[in-house]
Amino acid sequence: MSIGIDDISFYTSNFFLDLKSLADVQNIEADKYYQGIGQERMGIVGADEDVVTMAAAAALPLLDSCDKASIDTLLFATETGIDQSKAAGVFVHGLLGLPSRCRVVELKQACYSATAAVQMACAIVAREPERKVLVLASDIARYDLTSSGEATQGCGAVAMLIGSNPRLIEIHPQSGRYTEDVMDFWRPNYRSTALVDGKYSTKIYLKALKQAYADYIDQGGARFEQLDYLCYHLPFSRMAEKAQTQLARCSENSSDAATRSAMVAPTLTYNRTIGNSYTASIYIGLVSLFDHAAEDLSGKRVGFFSYGSGCVAEFFSGTVVAGYRDSLHTQRHQEMLEARTELTYTQYLKFYNFEIPADGGDHCMPEQTTGPFRLASIDQHKRIYCAR
Ligand code: HMG
Repeated sequence: MSIGIDDISFYTSNFFLDLKSLADVQNIEADKYYQGIGQERMGIVGADEDVVTMAAAAALPLLDSCDKASIDTLLFATETGIDQSKAAGVFVHGLLGLPSRCRVVELKQACYSATAAVQMACAIVAREPERKVLVLASDIARYDLTSSGEATQGCGAVAMLIGSNPRLIEIHPQSGRYTEDVMDFWRPNYRSTALVDGKYSTKIYLKALKQAYADYIDQGGARFEQLDYLCYHLPFSRMAEKAQTQLARCSENSSDAATRSAMVAPTLTYNRTIGNSYTASIYIGLVSLFDHAAEDLSGKRVGFFSYGSGCVAEFFSGTVVAGYRDSLHTQRHQEMLEARTELTYTQYLKFYNFEIPADGGDHCMPEQTTGPFRLASIDQHKRIYCAR
């Protein structure tokens, strides 16, 4: 029996800022962003959107071809928590009308926790192969205005159904792990924006890649040259190029830059235009690969490197299942991105500075999202969601 990703879809907000607008205000060349970090746009959420509405929107198309009663567990990965106690996934469970015997829990470890969720889901399915686990990863990346991280902001959610005999990609049992207590990026409970030591964080990312890959090889994993494509955690898309150079070095592989670039190019398209979506980004990279690879991916081996600052990292792999193209949501993803509205820099500032009311009153949220779900109000500190 194989276990892996049976269905996958992503969602992002309907607003974006082109990084040229940011570069113009900063009086620098847009190519620092377009080329230097490999990002074109950043997704910005409206006041009535959050990790719950994005995750529910990402999951919606998966329910068309799945018996809801088979969903045994919902794992919600995020570092943009909306409550210190209640799991964000419980709101999604309600919005999607999932069965009451479906257990729900939230997981956190920076951008890594969606991968912990995928591995836990595979273990649950191994015990009860007729069951499915819904893994949701949803985040809003926010840094201080004028900080080095500002241009790498973004937002997005991905939904995956993990099951036996999957239609899309079989996950291999080997996995390499690396954990180290470091302060490269973090967000104390009292802050709405992350703190980051930018250059140090990229160094730690590459160190964690080296260590997790070495452990993956020790566990019997496929070597770099046996992999056809790589999906990396993408804080910004140029990070994949740096990671490819590092991985080739670790495996003493002498491939040229063009070959290494072709192994990641189709995984970058969506992330270039939505920005960092933290937990979701590596799996939005997988959706991008499915939606953009020119060749038939059936039988191709994909390597995954998941990184969460702080830090925990994991390297694993999978094999694409023949016939995967019949189960993709490509048109839906492309239509969603084409329908987005561009913000001016002034509008971006207004969106950025919006604060959720915290006074315990009854507050209706401005109607801004065009997505299927919205945060309708905050009523005596309770978040009230609705379908649009
Ligand atoms: P910076 O320091 O402002 O940028 O921000 P820079 O000066 O290093 O320039 C970036 C690149 O652009 C350089 O190329 C420049 O040469 C090039 P590189 O040296 O990298 O090859 N450049 C140009 N290229 C073309 N035309 C031009 C031009 N000008 C310059 N005109 C930094 C970079 C990554 C520090 C910043 O974006 C940042 O702080 N980002 C946030 C932290 C981050 O994303 N870290 C990544 C690793 S940690 C991680 O992935 C975890 C995370 O997702 C969080 C989590 O786990 O929850 C962040």
